[in-house]
Amino acid sequence: MKNKLLILFISFAPFLVTIPLFAQKNMPLIVDVDKPVAVIQPTMWGIFFEDINFAADGGIYAELVKNRSFEFARPLMGWKILKPDTTNGVLIINRSETNPANPRFARITIVPGEASFGLSNAGFRGMGIKKGMTYHFSVQARQLEGSTLKMHIELVNNQGKMIGATVLVPDSKNWKKYSESFVADATEPKARMNVWFEGNGSVDIDMVSLFPDDTWKNRPEGLRSDLVQLLADLKPGFLRFPGGCIVEGRDLANRYQWKNTVGKIEDRHLIVNRWNTEFAHRQTPDYFQSFGMGFFEYFQLAEDIGAEPLPILNCGMACEFNTAEVVTLDQLDPYIQDALDLIEFANGPAESSWGKIRTQLGHSAPFNMKYIGVGNEQWGPQYIERYEAFAKAIKERYPDIKIITGTGPSPSGKDFDFAAKELKKLNANIVDEHYYANPEWFFQNATRYDNYDRKSYKIFAGEYAAQSKFTCSPDNQGNWKCALSEAAFMTGLERNADVVYMCSYAPLFAHADAWQWKPDLIWFDNLKSFGTANYYVQKLFSNNKGTTVLPMLMENKPLTGQNGLYASAAFDKNSNEIILKLVNSDEKSQTANIVLVSKKRLGSKARMFVLKSEDLNNVNSMDQPTLISPVESEVVLKGKSIIQVLAPNSFSVIRIKVLQ
Ligand code: AHR
Repeated sequence: MKNKLLILFISFAPFLVTIPLFAQKNMPLIVDVDKPVAVIQPTMWGIFFEDINFAADGGIYAELVKNRSFEFARPLMGWKILKPDTTNGVLIINRSETNPANPRFARITIVPGEASFGLSNAGFRGMGIKKGMTYHFSVQARQLEGSTLKMHIELVNNQGKMIGATVLVPDSKNWKKYSESFVADATEPKARMNVWFEGNGSVDIDMVSLFPDDTWKNRPEGLRSDLVQLLADLKPGFLRFPGGCIVEGRDLANRYQWKNTVGKIEDRHLIVNRWNTEFAHRQTPDYFQSFGMGFFEYFQLAEDIGAEPLPILNCGMACEFNTAEVVTLDQLDPYIQDALDLIEFANGPAESSWGKIRTQLGHSAPFNMKYIGVGNEQWGPQYIERYEAFAKAIKERYPDIKIITGTGPSPSGKDFDFAAKELKKLNANIVDEHYYANPEWFFQNATRYDNYDRKSYKIFAGEYAAQSKFTCSPDNQGNWKCALSEAAFMTGLERNADVVYMCSYAPLFAHADAWQWKPDLIWFDNLKSFGTANYYVQKLFSNNKGTTVLPMLMENKPLTGQNGLYASAAFDKNSNEIILKLVNSDEKSQTANIVLVSKKRLGSKARMFVLKSEDLNNVNSMDQPTLISPVESEVVLKGKSIIQVLAPNSFSVIRIKVLQ
């Protein structure tokens, strides 16, 4: 008898497994189209930008010369001396007394009759050069009395073959910027730039620079257009900059100071990048911040891509994972003044002190900045007291500016609870929470905000990314499992848009040969770039944002993981469409029976975008950049219902027109 029961069980076991799914299939998922429950902020999905992984220097900032002003800790890092065995030579001269922001320059001396002499720049892990593209070389130079040195500039490929060249003769005894443009005749991802010197005497050089012509919006010496395009395609609600821990710096001396990043390029005081030697397993000692991508450029970028600018400022605290230095409270004023001056720089009239500087930089109209962040990932009472001082000063002068504050690196635990309690007491506006956790955490936390206090502060989900191994592991992958778990989590963020006002994945960019942190949203090398599976999840949410949240319930409950299903719904008043987002994290397909309850007429067809992969470990790559990317199809409605098979491990977005 026992055996018979066992045989019976074994033969019916597969059906037992599918019964709940079958039941699910017939269970209607009801969307109450005419009863929106919350407003979705235009800022809901945005971008977190930090100069980590060569995101700015060597990345979006299109400068190809590394250490152009000889200010790295080792002045000739990135440069190689060509033909050193002569009396010809290079001398590094320091004029810090008269030029503290840009103290060093190089003096090249040539003796006629000696073998030729030159300097060769390696670029940022090579220079990406494109056939037929125009390149703009520039240098600040002065000839010494009686000198007549000529500069031969040449691009060479990986084998040393010349692929482009020009000649330049500085003609003044005073510092002057010289420029020459030329066209490259071959494509090379790892080119070098050689500068040969010919003639008699000495020439001083500084700010040796090379930019491609095809920058974003063709701005001279601007940004890499393919990388900006990937950002613009996200249609982000905000751009947070410049980080991240980079705001804090390893110590206070190396904190990010926005005033040092605006104005003439040669006056932007270079400092070390705090990710330079952060990880023993991924050292990048040649990582510095030239600030070619400075605060004006960040504001301009935000404007270009239609995002609200969201600067984060140092609050008198260096990175608490590093030195944890803090400035004393009685010396906090200059830090607070930086915040007040930034607001004037962004929003002040063209005649105001800082508005004037913005105008001189070419932007007389205010940037209309609405948010400012005080501190990045700080914790402890030392943060709260510094935040309070900032908040008091900012609110007194600029009551309409919304202040972003934070709860530290972890989304739970003692420090998190302490910060959350204190910030509630202080009536904080918007609080930044960070989540770096495994995919299971993201699936489970689709309900995180369902029971958050509706009377307290709003949430900025400011940094999140599922970690396939563990946080900071060099083996992390932005694989489909991670991306799918983020999509499930994001349905919870959207469902709770009355509390969650802003969200951004982090980090944003990574150079394939120079990264420190994995996973990242967008990867690039010197010529190419691609969005990860995670990027396409972000893009689908952001491009299909909607303006209000609609209830979407099965048996009166939101889908938060029942049978591996997660869902949220929105209405977009701009396009008059219902937007459904459905995640099936089960390894089997499931049929969704969606009923749209509305007095209005609906279109008979809908557009559907599906992101999926057969293997949860799959990733996009340079060779297969769109392996996991959305596929569009059409869905036919049955009256006001949609019966739709959701593929295994898939994320789907469905857009249905409301006709009137
Ligand atoms: O996103 C990478 C880092 O993670 C950020 O700089 C920091 O805020 C967090 O610890």
